[in-house]
Amino acid sequence: MKFFIDTANLEDIKKAYKMGVLSGVTTNPSLVAKEGVKFEDRIEEILQAVPEVESVSAEVSPNAVTAEEMIAEAEELLKINGGDDKITIKLPMTLAGLEATRYLAKKGVKTNVTLIFTVNQALLAARAGATYVSPFLGRLDDISQDGVLLVEKIAELFRVHNLDAQIIAASVRHPDHVTRVALAGAHIATIPYNVIEQLSKHPLTDQGLEKFAADWKTTF
Ligand code: E4P
Repeated sequence: MKFFIDTANLEDIKKAYKMGVLSGVTTNPSLVAKEGVKFEDRIEEILQAVPEVESVSAEVSPNAVTAEEMIAEAEELLKINGGDDKITIKLPMTLAGLEATRYLAKKGVKTNVTLIFTVNQALLAARAGATYVSPFLGRLDDISQDGVLLVEKIAELFRVHNLDAQIIAASVRHPDHVTRVALAGAHIATIPYNVIEQLSKHPLTDQGLEKFAADWKTTF
């Protein structure tokens, strides 16, 4: 399973990129709004900060409701940073979103269909030609449904039917989510920076380092 970072915060993106484990970035309107910056400017800064990743998701705005409106916005987004081929157009899981996905996929544009909460939605997105589908596990857990189970079922379905779309486990809240979606067959997990950092930590690692340091000091 690959790691994407789920944020529009440039400092967090740079820190995660430096770790050497990052394969992509996902943003959404709420994440960019939180940063208080112009949307296109931030996407451009992100693209420049992570030259060696496969994908940077830029979502069409909530103002784009019809497929035509989504495609028009996508065409503008695709020009950012000189038409950077990492740009992945993120589209909502609606009928218009599916139509726009099909149109863009036929043009060779990478797409990420977001706000997926059922296996059927994932199947529709994959059949429309989505490069990535994003099931939101944390938000399902929030309403007492099993988000990891959804990822597991989508992974099984994509295997059975040889579907190429990659599953991005999204709305990931803690390290246990990461382990469980990796085992469930997600191709990618998109994770906030604090969770990426938590993945690297264990109290016994810290204790071990302290002991090595203490022994080193007494002996040498
Ligand atoms: C995915 O691409 C979304 O940006 C994200 O994972 C949403 O997560 P949230 O439920 O924590 O807002």
